[in-house]
Amino acid sequence: MRPLIAGNWKMNGLTEDSANLARAIRSGLGDLAPEVLICPPATQLAAVAAILDGSGILAGGQDCHTKRHGAHTGEISAAMLRDAGARYVILGHSERRAEQGETDALVAAKVEAAVAARLIPIVCVGESAADREAGRQEAVVGRHLAGSLGAEFKGVVAYEPIWAIGTGRVPTSADIAAMHAFIRTELVRAQPAGAETRILYGGSVKPGNAAEILALPEVGGALVGGASLVAEDFLAIIRAA
Ligand code: 13P
Repeated sequence: MRPLIAGNWKMNGLTEDSANLARAIRSGLGDLAPEVLICPPATQLAAVAAILDGSGILAGGQDCHTKRHGAHTGEISAAMLRDAGARYVILGHSERRAEQGETDALVAAKVEAAVAARLIPIVCVGESAADREAGRQEAVVGRHLAGSLGAEFKGVVAYEPIWAIGTGRVPTSADIAAMHAFIRTELVRAQPAGAETRILYGGSVKPGNAAEILALPEVGGALVGGASLVAEDFLAIIRAA
């Protein structure tokens, strides 16, 4: 399966910064093999998608609402993301689970909304530092998978241990491989398409560690935060895939 390298720009960059970054990534990409995705802030999605048009690099959203339209002030529907040029949407990121109190059930409803709008969901799962220290990481991730994906999941799962996000701390290769193997087993057990679902790793992926992480069994790509904001770093991660 072709690896997917996805950049999550989170809440960073104004219009000009994002346009420059998208142009730099586009022009540096050449004909590299992995599938590449950029998820800019929603206000810049249409502009970034237009810059990426025809390059093979796809654009995506960082969240969507469960409803297609209606009286939901401040929200953005999956159909609106699709209309603005998105092909993927990140759902259930740990920052949203923590800051917006998103539950597994809410994430599952968003997955359904995304698929209905022809977006491919990237569902984030992952344990906290306390969960890892207590040896509960598989229980937590298993619960996220059971509750967030819905019955016939067709999308991408991103394993992002919360303690590795933006910290420079990365699990050992053995720990990443063990968790990805666990996720694969759970997906195969519970989902009709579980054997083909791509499983990304996210959390402090950098040019210096990307090749080792991306070579691990069952790691089908990376979800990159900070390093995706620097064109050369993001391109180096893409080249490592
Ligand atoms: P960092 O790469 O900055 O650790 O962020 C990872 C992440 O949260 C991607 O969604």
